[in-house]
Amino acid sequence: MLIISAMSLSGGQGKSSTILFTAKMLAEAGYTVLAVDADPQGNLSTFLQHDLQPNEPTLLEVVKGSVALEDGIYPVKDYDRLFLIPADDALEGLQDYLSTSGIGALMMKQRLEPAKGNFDICLIDPPPQRFQLSRSVIGASEQIIIPVELNVKGFGSLIRTTAAIQEFIEFKICHPEILGVLPFRDRWTGLNRTIECETWLNHMQGEIAPELFLPSLRESTKVVRAISSGLPLSALTSPEDKYPLDEPFKELLKRVTSKMEKHSNV
Ligand SMILES: Nc1ncnc2c1ncn2[C@@H]1O[C@H](COP(=O)(O)OP(=O)(O)O)[C@@H](O)[C@H]1O
Ligand SMILES: [Mg+2]
Repeated sequence: MLIISAMSLSGGQGKSSTILFTAKMLAEAGYTVLAVDADPQGNLSTFLQHDLQPNEPTLLEVVKGSVALEDGIYPVKDYDRLFLIPADDALEGLQDYLSTSGIGALMMKQRLEPAKGNFDICLIDPPPQRFQLSRSVIGASEQIIIPVELNVKGFGSLIRTTAAIQEFIEFKICHPEILGVLPFRDRWTGLNRTIECETWLNHMQGEIAPELFLPSLRESTKVVRAISSGLPLSALTSPEDKYPLDEPFKELLKRVTSKMEKHSNV
């Protein structure tokens, strides 16, 4: 099982949207996917239209070890190969639990271990802040997608996120790779990218190897509609679209497929 997360240490950079579309695309491509909502805001659970009942176990109980992993996993409506460990605001309580445990950074990895035999890919959606929960998500990740808006906030988020990943590598906690940097809500007017987006993309490519950048996800109400309606992005992209909205996820599928091949060879 390949564990991939979307990290970006600022809010609104596209983490939950990235995990949502990647999860659906990988499940449609035939992989068995476990999506993990590790944000107390529970946006991924909402995006996947999970109707959480009051006493149902969530990621909180799974990480605390008060239920078995399989008791926190639920099927996702309309998908045979997509499953979810949901979250709600009670997950905030995990921050203290992780910080007092001493091995908080490796706790999530440990708890997801039993899923290995049943899923091909695990995708984790973390909270925005650099707190224990985010640290635990980095600690579990083999591959990281970094979504960033093409503006000053996105630039700051990219720098902070890569520095946090580097810290884990330096201290030999784990060795996650950057699977891709995804420019999020890229704005174009006609045939040209807006000057602001172009400028910040150039700044970013001065800091991070340009080949790591994925095709961008355009700013579009169609994408917002895909999220709220539950339809996959491919359903709202017509073949004659000049810039297919699902382009970044097609490239992600290629990169994931190649990692999966290497993974199965070890
Ligand atoms: N391509 C897009 N164009 C415009 N808005 C988008 C697009 N993709 C996602 N959004 C909206 O951007 C908001 C923030 O994205 P989200 O994935 O929730 O970020 P994060 O998880 O990093 O906080 C969401 O409310 C979503 O509806
Ligand atoms: Mg989110």
